[in-house]
Amino acid sequence: MTKQRFLITSALPYINGIKHLGNLAGSMLPADVHARFRRMQGHEVLFLCATDEHGTPAELAAAEAGKSVQDYCLEQHEIQKTAGEGFHLSFDHFGRSSSSQNYELTQHFAHILEQNGFIEERVSKQIFSIDDNRFLPDRYVEGTCPKCGFEDARGDQCDNCGTLLDPMDLINPRSKISGSKNVEVRDTSHLFLCQPKLEKNIGDWVEASKPNWPHLAYSIAKKWLDEGLQDRAITRDLSWGVPVAYNGKARPGFENKVFYVWFDAPIEYIGAAQEWAQKTGNDWQRWWRKDKGADDVTYVEFMGKDNVAFHTVSFPATILGSNEPWKLVDRLKAFNWVTWYGGKFSTSNKRGIFMDAALDLMPGDYWRWYLMANAPESSDAAFTLEGFQAAVNSDLANVFGNFINRITKFAVSKFDGEVKSGGEYGDIEHELFKNILEKMAQINQCHEEMEFRKAAAETRAMWVLGNEYLQTKAPWSLFKTDLEQSALGVRVGLNLCALFAIAAIPFIPETANKVLDALGIPNENRNWWDGAGVEVFDALPHGLKINAPDLLFQKIEDATVAEWADKFGGA
Ligand code: MF3
Ligand code: ZN
Repeated sequence: MTKQRFLITSALPYINGIKHLGNLAGSMLPADVHARFRRMQGHEVLFLCATDEHGTPAELAAAEAGKSVQDYCLEQHEIQKTAGEGFHLSFDHFGRSSSSQNYELTQHFAHILEQNGFIEERVSKQIFSIDDNRFLPDRYVEGTCPKCGFEDARGDQCDNCGTLLDPMDLINPRSKISGSKNVEVRDTSHLFLCQPKLEKNIGDWVEASKPNWPHLAYSIAKKWLDEGLQDRAITRDLSWGVPVAYNGKARPGFENKVFYVWFDAPIEYIGAAQEWAQKTGNDWQRWWRKDKGADDVTYVEFMGKDNVAFHTVSFPATILGSNEPWKLVDRLKAFNWVTWYGGKFSTSNKRGIFMDAALDLMPGDYWRWYLMANAPESSDAAFTLEGFQAAVNSDLANVFGNFINRITKFAVSKFDGEVKSGGEYGDIEHELFKNILEKMAQINQCHEEMEFRKAAAETRAMWVLGNEYLQTKAPWSLFKTDLEQSALGVRVGLNLCALFAIAAIPFIPETANKVLDALGIPNENRNWWDGAGVEVFDALPHGLKINAPDLLFQKIEDATVAEWADKFGGA
């Protein structure tokens, strides 16, 4: 297989608070599974993520926590980074959109977009709070919804009826900061990105990308384009964010403004590559600049469906409008929602499990498996504790764990853990080999196509084939009647352990590697199946001594599920 290069990014999680399992399942986790698959194939991978730190939610959350926004973001970044490590997310770098690299890149893009005629400064009307002595952007204004009369509607949206609002629409607007109603409408300047001028350019690119995007992504992009693109304000009246300055000089009139969070956040995909390069001494340009070797990189993005328009229209507008040779996304994978028993995860209502809490209950691999086997691909998927329990007890403990335990324990107790030579394959082996090779081709195909739920189902189906083989072959019975065939059954079984664990690495890396450690398989041999034939069933060197791994999975008791349901809100 020729070595390729994959740039893989996961949508950047917002900084305001630890993410729930649904957030994990909708971008960071599948991105990790795919990154691991590509690395195991021998390709070169750069896998990036970062915290998305700007915007009003970050400022408000910091204020609520009684911290400066800088301290708050640093602290939350560390918390999210640690949680990611607990789930074995193998980012090459987990950056921050507040990095100096991103500041410079964001200012660079704005500058060049303006020079190319795609940014205009315009005066618009906005709400100014006299008591707070500042303009109030989006969520800093609250008031009565003009549609439904709800009294606590936010400037950008009414949570009661769902209507998208402009702060100017609110009846009796008040400041979220001080609660003051002493507000008035004043003129103020903002920068606007003239997306309609780029419409043709974006439309052509979207059409050209169609074959490489799933239908969901294409149809969302198409809908936005068909509705007609709008000029969008890309600045806000906030102090936390990327300053509106070019070459270190604040733009006159913009001293108290910053770029809008959705303008700078995707640029951090590039910023994170620069942060990584600075940290490791690597070259970021060969990943991002087509004039510096990135034209042969395949760029794959992972995200929830609400992010698709930003990744297929807004961010490409920034890139295309620059007329500079930056990479654009090649393949894109979008997910529906994971719900908590069909409803919303919510911190305030204590509904659902968040990433840090999950790791206090069970190891990362357990969650990874259930979330991917239940990935919200064709529709939303409900997380239930009962579903989680069943996936762990059945798929992981009974099917995978049991297979590994049974055969390695038997090998150790009867054959001193040695992989023996000898014996002739019979019909039952030929049948097994054919079925397993077929499964491996299917699993491979699913990963290539980024069909995670199917990939997990096929992986499990392969493990089942192994159990069926052991059941029929019954090397423990043969041990008394036909020692050679018993040894052959064990040898085949141990080779299956290696194959099964290797196929499991993208999903459950910690446990899979534990198995491979016990089998004494060196790291450099933990590679993805390359299409090889029956020789894979006799790959372990004869005479090799293996160990039986410790118990791989702890089953989850009904009482535990009941306890968790109590604590996190169950059915
Ligand atoms: N923070 C956003 C969300 O969680 C995603 C940002 S993705 C990026 O919806 F493209 F802006 F980086
Ligand atoms: Zn309303």
